[in-house]
Amino acid sequence: MLNQLNEIGTREAIAKWDSFADAYAENHGEQGDLHKEVFLNPVLLSMIGNAAKKQVLDAGCGEGYFSRILARSGAAVTAVDYSSKMIAIAKERTPADLQIEYKQGNLEDMQAFRNKKFDLIVSNMVMQDLANYEKVFQEMHRLLSDEGHFIFSILHPCFATPESGWEKADNGEKLHWNVDQYFYEGAYEQRFGGQEKVFLFHRTLTSYLNTLLKTGFTLVQMDEPVPSEEALKKYPSFKEDLRCPDFIIFQLKKTSA
Ligand SMILES: C[S@@+](CC[C@H](N)C(=O)[O-])C[C@H]1O[C@@H](n2cnc3c(N)ncnc32)[C@H](O)[C@@H]1O
Repeated sequence: MLNQLNEIGTREAIAKWDSFADAYAENHGEQGDLHKEVFLNPVLLSMIGNAAKKQVLDAGCGEGYFSRILARSGAAVTAVDYSSKMIAIAKERTPADLQIEYKQGNLEDMQAFRNKKFDLIVSNMVMQDLANYEKVFQEMHRLLSDEGHFIFSILHPCFATPESGWEKADNGEKLHWNVDQYFYEGAYEQRFGGQEKVFLFHRTLTSYLNTLLKTGFTLVQMDEPVPSEEALKKYPSFKEDLRCPDFIIFQLKKTSA
């Protein structure tokens, strides 16, 4: 079954994102969706620190909520997404007084940005959605100014594998999280929000880390976010996320040309 997906590339994956864009955006407000609000935003924003006046690229901006957060904090934001539908929604959702430069483009080939340099590149839940992550890391490295930072979140590759999920008792109790096919690298299908299926790309943690180091990045920090006590009071069902992490976030620094 997984072998049949060997030929899937970024183009096929993006066609799915284009048709999924409306449903995806509907699920997102000014803090993103619930998982972004609870798990990703607090860590991303703490790693970013003060972004005011920085040249920032939001790589794979989707409907643009994080670009808007960054722009509201005073950053000069460029936002890129391969899906023209996502870019159209992001533009629509951006008030006229917020300056964000939106561009439709593939992160695997950013030649359109030949002469541009960024102090910071943020990419929220995108790297597992594209085929050629090695090329994207090279492009992100090229587009950063010296000592610039690259911060990205992904589904945790050790736990979100092509075959993973809760093992449940007959009464529905979640017994434990099953993981299989960890060493499979390539495309697999994942259902989102009930009906829509998108293609995701799995690689091992070793592949991610070694590729980043080979590209010329230094690891500054990593995080496997858990819900805060405050978030748990508001959303008690997230208690199950204290059992194993859904996400991992990397902060890297450009160290060599
Ligand atoms: C899970 S969504 C995340 C969107 C946004 N960063 C957020 O946090 O809401 C992934 C996005 O990555 C975009 N994407 C996937 N592959 C891409 C590529 N090769 N180049 C640019 N964007 C891509 C998709 O179109 C989609 O909007």
